[in-house]
Amino acid sequence: MAYNLLKGKKGIIFGALDDKSLAWRTAIRCHEEGAQLVLSNAPVALRMGEINKLAEATNAPVIGADVTNMDDLKKLFEESMKHFGGGIDFILHSVGMSLNMRKGKHYTELYYTWSQKTLDISAMSLHRVLRTAWDLDALNEGASVVALTYIAAQRAFPNYNEMADAKAMLESITRSFGYYYGMKKKVRINTVSQSPTRTTAGSGVKGFDGFITYAEKMSPLGNATADECAGYCTTLFSDLTKMVTMQNLFHDGGFSFTGVSDGVIEQMEK
Ligand SMILES: NC(=O)c1ccc[n+]([C@@H]2O[C@H](COP(=O)([O-])OP(=O)(O)OC[C@H]3O[C@@H](n4cnc5c(N)ncnc54)[C@H](O)[C@@H]3O)[C@@H](O)[C@H]2O)c1
Repeated sequence: MAYNLLKGKKGIIFGALDDKSLAWRTAIRCHEEGAQLVLSNAPVALRMGEINKLAEATNAPVIGADVTNMDDLKKLFEESMKHFGGGIDFILHSVGMSLNMRKGKHYTELYYTWSQKTLDISAMSLHRVLRTAWDLDALNEGASVVALTYIAAQRAFPNYNEMADAKAMLESITRSFGYYYGMKKKVRINTVSQSPTRTTAGSGVKGFDGFITYAEKMSPLGNATADECAGYCTTLFSDLTKMVTMQNLFHDGGFSFTGVSDGVIEQMEK
């Protein structure tokens, strides 16, 4: 059911790779709620061609940008403003990549050149996006920016690797830039800390199926799905959440505040 929550709003969605992506589901939901969109992803991801289906479904242009490249980001924002005929009301940052994880390097033996790249793609990129918007004065008064994160920023999760450090940095940038952009233009910046979800990035984590099953058993409401994540992000882009900023918002069925659940105890007693 749609509520027209984003009627007249214009947003950029980063990171839709395929129909499992959190960004893909969010783009569909934002479109249903009346938003106009621009879709962006890294040029290498665009070559897969999948995103063209989403572009058609949401009637949105696709503009490539590597989030670690300031020239790409400038071009993306300039072209988006041209397309919209004005400023931008919301941004979804749904971008992550761990090079050490990908290449099987253990956390205790990180290859720092890869770690730097991970931090740039997965965390510093939020600063790059916000700074580009700031320099071009691309965001409208009261605009909303959401970046997706994971609870490994606060708790140790084996095999989440240097991505945990990247998420901690992402959440810190959210607070720091949230202060300045709030003061300047009442722009809100938050992270949504999502349950483990089967996507391309998620499935890269070693033992991910076990992770998902454990989180499902631990959470009073169960794991939040990609579509539920999309719904939550949509509320954060809407005018109903104008005073929420600089927060890390858990969207995890209660996992983050559960010590232990009956389901997990039963499993241990078997
Ligand atoms: N899946 C999960 O369990 C889960 C849980 C919590 C948070 N998240 C976060 O959600 C976000 C989206 O991930 P997802 O699970 O939908 O997986 P996904 O693989 O579908 O999305 C990751 C996206 O990042 C993009 N990307 C990578 N490098 C890039 C670059 N240099 N420039 C531009 N884009 C680049 C990829 O092309 C891809 O579209 C990530 O930040 C991820 O850490 C995922």
